[in-house]
Amino acid sequence: MTAEKHILRLWNVNKTFRIGRSDIQVLRDANLHIYPREFTILYGPSGSGKSTILNTMIGLEVPSTGKVYIHGRDISKMSDDERAAFRNENIGVVYQQSHWVKTLNVIDNVALPLLISNRDESYAYARASYALAQVGMDSFAKRSPVQLSGGQQQKVGIARALVADPAIIMSDEPTGNLDTTSSDEVIELLMGLVRDYGRTVVMVTHELRFLKLANRAYAIKDGVIEKEYNQGELQDLMKDFVEPLSLEDATKDVN
Ligand SMILES: Nc1ncnc2c1ncn2[C@@H]1O[C@H](COP(=O)(O)OP(=O)(O)O)[C@@H](O)[C@H]1O
Ligand SMILES: [Mg+2]
Repeated sequence: MTAEKHILRLWNVNKTFRIGRSDIQVLRDANLHIYPREFTILYGPSGSGKSTILNTMIGLEVPSTGKVYIHGRDISKMSDDERAAFRNENIGVVYQQSHWVKTLNVIDNVALPLLISNRDESYAYARASYALAQVGMDSFAKRSPVQLSGGQQQKVGIARALVADPAIIMSDEPTGNLDTTSSDEVIELLMGLVRDYGRTVVMVTHELRFLKLANRAYAIKDGVIEKEYNQGELQDLMKDFVEPLSLEDATKDVN
């Protein structure tokens, strides 16, 4: 089997933020590949640079040095407008918390990215309706998004990320605010996008337990991509992993 060609590549990316008079280097020589139809996890502790990497991959941050290639195109060479248009077409983004236009209902919010880019209204609503069905939230179309549970809002957030039919979905700690059951549902949805719809999904997380589900993972520490794990290595690594005890279990043990 020949290795499939990557869909996205970071090449020797360094990122420095200037704070007052000092430069803080947040990413050091970051190199990674994202492959089509894979579920890739960027794993690392808080403050390690995961969000900066993700924001660089979607072109919201520009590398201080180095390159970002998506579909073979160097997005760091694009103008801001070009890059925004390219992102809207190719990448859907899901954050830890979705922000809604509170006066609009669920389907309006999902259709909004297409309406903003001047797509035909009937097309926008047909796409929004399809995207809501993809995440199992079609029956909530007329509800207000702010009245939904956190887990339901994340599903609608995924629908909104899917509305423009992008090949790549990027997600920054999508389960960060959710209980275990809702987290598992959101992860299952993201995996389904790869399995059933041939999407490429990248997820940033600090939760170890998801690693066993990924096709590939990159471990990040102090702004350095320390290691790449393929699926076999992840299975090996995680085979003896036991969920940490809940507080309740821990108390039981003590007594
Ligand atoms: N815009 C910024 N300006 C200055 N420092 C930043 C900025 N964004 C991130 N950082 C710093 O970069 C480091 C990595 O942050 P981040 O990428 O958000 O990590 P993570 O997502 O892994 O928690 C942190 O020390 C953070 O304070
Ligand atoms: Mg972060």
